[in-house]
Amino acid sequence: MTIQWFPGHMAKARREVTEKLKLIDIVYELVDARLPLSSRNPMIDEIVANKPRIILLNKADMADTEKTNRWLDYFNSQNNNTKAIAIDAHQGKGLTKIHSLSKELLKEKWDRMIAKGIRPRAIRALIVGIPNVGKSTLINRLAKKNIAKTGDRPGVTKAQQWVKVGKELELLDTPGILWPKFEDQEVGLRLATTGAIKDTIINLQEVAVYALRYLSEYYPSRLHERYGLEEIPEDVVELFDAIGKKRGCIMSGGYIDYDKTTEIIIRDIRTLKLGKITFEIPTE
Ligand code: G4P
Repeated sequence: MTIQWFPGHMAKARREVTEKLKLIDIVYELVDARLPLSSRNPMIDEIVANKPRIILLNKADMADTEKTNRWLDYFNSQNNNTKAIAIDAHQGKGLTKIHSLSKELLKEKWDRMIAKGIRPRAIRALIVGIPNVGKSTLINRLAKKNIAKTGDRPGVTKAQQWVKVGKELELLDTPGILWPKFEDQEVGLRLATTGAIKDTIINLQEVAVYALRYLSEYYPSRLHERYGLEEIPEDVVELFDAIGKKRGCIMSGGYIDYDKTTEIIIRDIRTLKLGKITFEIPTE
């Protein structure tokens, strides 16, 4: 579902997440492992403030493992209240770590409660993230059943319920939906490359050219292998044309069929025909 995020919606979404934060002990912030910064909300640190947080690099099955490890180091070195792990919510991989890490992050708080004679209760958690990052998939995986999706519309609320994840963990059944950093054009292009933004609202050709420029810098051998190119032209338009030619996307008169070539490039990226790719690298 495409969401139109207007300033009013953003304010409301933020208010809703802030309200939910009052009910929970820990935040599970879901990001896309292929673009861990572009798939975040620009105000997330301010919104979460000093709540303990686990950053879940989801869709790790589609990301470049070496770069995912670099991202984990990057996030794990930020502060003691925040930890990061890589998961694949679709297959349910990495999820057992969520519980043990939550306990670790909340240990002091729990110890204080026990010292005061308060019996430990289940840890309460909230999943937050931008649309399409895998929030519903993760809730359903953790809950081991299908929790109805409220719809990715800020402002659509229903009575909140707790979903049990084993004996010691409870999740709010509706995730906190936040917006990405729209105002940054590169962020938009990266999100579009992975399919996080619906294709009807973007210029796909621009996205394909952006992706090719990135691939020729960071993953040139993948382009060689996939498209049988002897050398990668430096000029991205020439590269685009060379792929079109190799794939037989030729119209009458010998012109390259740009739409068809675009479709092939985008599909190859999203279906991992070019291998696992991470579109963002942590700055040192
Ligand atoms: P949201 O609630 O945050 O909006 O995201 P949602 O769970 O609906 O997931 C968006 C898409 O991402 C879904 O694909 C889902 O299957 C996929 N997905 C979620 N987690 C992972 C993961 O770890 N790895 C991979 N490869 N994909 C993941 P879809 O095509 O939109 O839906 P469907 O075909 O799965 O029904």
